Amino acid sequence: MSSNSRMHNGDGWKSIFAVAAVAVLLPVLVTGCKDKKAPGGSPAGPGSGGSPSSQVSGDTIVIGEYGSMTGDNSSFGIQDDAGIKIAVDEVNAAGGVTVAGKKYKIEIKLEDDQSKSENAETAVKRLIDQANVTAILGEVASSCSIAGGNICQRSGVPMISPSSTNIKVTQIGDYIFRCCFLDSYQAAVDARFAIDPTGLNAKKAAIFTNKDQSYSTGFRDEFEKAFAKYGGTIVAKQTYGEKDTDYRGQLTALKAANPEVILVPGYYKDASTIAKQARELGITVPLLGGDGWSDSKLLELGGPAVNGCYFSDHMSIKDPKPIVQTFVKAYKAKYGSDPKMEKEPSTMAALGYDAAKILFEAIGRSKSTDKKDIRDSIAQTKNYDGVTGTISINKDRNADKSAVVTAVKNGQFDYRATVPDPDKPLSK
Ligand code: PHE
Repeated sequence: MSSNSRMHNGDGWKSIFAVAAVAVLLPVLVTGCKDKKAPGGSPAGPGSGGSPSSQVSGDTIVIGEYGSMTGDNSSFGIQDDAGIKIAVDEVNAAGGVTVAGKKYKIEIKLEDDQSKSENAETAVKRLIDQANVTAILGEVASSCSIAGGNICQRSGVPMISPSSTNIKVTQIGDYIFRCCFLDSYQAAVDARFAIDPTGLNAKKAAIFTNKDQSYSTGFRDEFEKAFAKYGGTIVAKQTYGEKDTDYRGQLTALKAANPEVILVPGYYKDASTIAKQARELGITVPLLGGDGWSDSKLLELGGPAVNGCYFSDHMSIKDPKPIVQTFVKAYKAKYGSDPKMEKEPSTMAALGYDAAKILFEAIGRSKSTDKKDIRDSIAQTKNYDGVTGTISINKDRNADKSAVVTAVKNGQFDYRATVPDPDKPLSK
């Protein structure tokens, strides 16, 4: 775990606080950003496509945002956008950003990619070619961030993804950043939690992967490596496809191998259905997931089947730290009376907020409004005190942060542990 040093920003193992289940839920079912033809992360030259106009004219800096506002993954997109809007309100209420002595207001131009990676490409092209954006806030799902990120890199437009954890995202090139950890880290956190005697004490794991999502397959590969390194054995592996809804055949095969835990590194719609079918088939062992489970829809769709399951996540919204609770308050003030919105923010809203704030702060430190200068400024982000933890952008343009493990208990999310270094056994 060399590239991602862990900062301990949580309350430590066993300091448990309850996370209330969110009562009001979005009307749309959610799954992943479809990984139709996510291109690989081949590094391209910085801004090799050139950008239409590099300096900002007027007194507004336009920032692009592309997200899954509709489609399978809309819950992630809506929460991300909610967090971004709070950040924009705050910065503009404080007078905007000052660059080279001049004040600018921030304006967001949002494009809906409908949870599809091929649309993410077009959305980003529109933001760059038509809206002439100065920087872009990237997608939640890795497959979409990879698709859109390739366009940003080619066009020399800096992009920050709030939450895409697949390794390939920032490998695209020097204009692409993220303010979250990588799957190599969160999968190792899961592996440590699975095997540790104070965690699940499981030596035999099975894995059930969505073969159509780079997030899911990348997570699987990293978990396999870490679990073996920590002394565990993978006893069975199965895959499913994005459109599948009946998982019984694969689950029956996994059950036959007698695993003590089953890793399901998908998004929460798949995970909740898988949990239900697993319980129907008499599989009682815990299911383990990653941040893709982090939405109240998991509880609504999974019901009692997800009780006793665990997942790695970026933070807990019930963390009593003032910075977290101030954000929760701001969310409730803005969206609390909107019947279409969740009553409480998800992790995703906090990540969207942090990504936007990091970008605005970097713009404020930039020599000019030129995209190259803003890129350099983002790269220099150090010890930014975010809602989701202290954020420093490292040389690979990723953030060094620690993860938490969340338990599902009595139909609610429950903080379980902070794992700053998965290579070390958990202490009590
Ligand atoms: N990490 C997921 C991905 O890369 C996206 C995600 C992040 C989903 C945080 C939920 C919460 O695809």
